[in-house]
Amino acid sequence: MTPEQLAQIHSAAFTLERGWTAAEFTDLIASAYVNLFTADGGFALTRTVAGESELLTLAVHPDHQRRGIALGLLSDWIAAIQPHVETAFLEVAADNHRALALYQSAAFTRSGQRKAYYARNGAPAVDAVLMSRAFP
Ligand SMILES: CC(C)(COP(=O)(O)OP(=O)(O)OC[C@H]1O[C@@H](n2cnc3c(N)ncnc32)[C@H](O)[C@@H]1OP(=O)(O)O)[C@@H](O)C(=O)NCCC(=O)NCCS
Repeated sequence: MTPEQLAQIHSAAFTLERGWTAAEFTDLIASAYVNLFTADGGFALTRTVAGESELLTLAVHPDHQRRGIALGLLSDWIAAIQPHVETAFLEVAADNHRALALYQSAAFTRSGQRKAYYARNGAPAVDAVLMSRAFP
């Protein structure tokens, strides 16, 4: 998947937040410890370092949503990191109910909250919910 395709999916999926540009994806993919997982119409970008793995972003194009693609991407990520890390974590906007449901179904639990973390055009900023999953 090219940086342009990643940017296109990201902008189509994130309607309330700024879409990341192809140049930003180019830089991120070239960064140390960053991994890209792709599927038809969706992708996940992660960073794994020092026994922890973070989900940097996850997006599925609206034309491909609700077909289990995000759950599959999360499974690919977990399968890749599970032997090597103690914890996986992510941040999600408190008003993103579908993503919260997705992460709960992938066994992530709430571990914290950041106040007014996500800016919203013409509306108050929204808290970030921190979620994590530990591996024994
Ligand atoms: C959140 C997102 C990644 C889900 O992608 P998806 O491929 O449609 O998700 P899946 O089909 O794998 O859904 C898995 C589970 O997540 C939950 N879920 C996903 N979409 C949902 C929705 N619209 N409403 C309620 N629950 C939803 C459900 O529990 C679902 O299981 P079910 O279909 O058996 O009920 C996608 O909607 C998206 O790209 N949204 C915009 C970007 C975003 O919010 N990314 C995450 C930011 S942290």
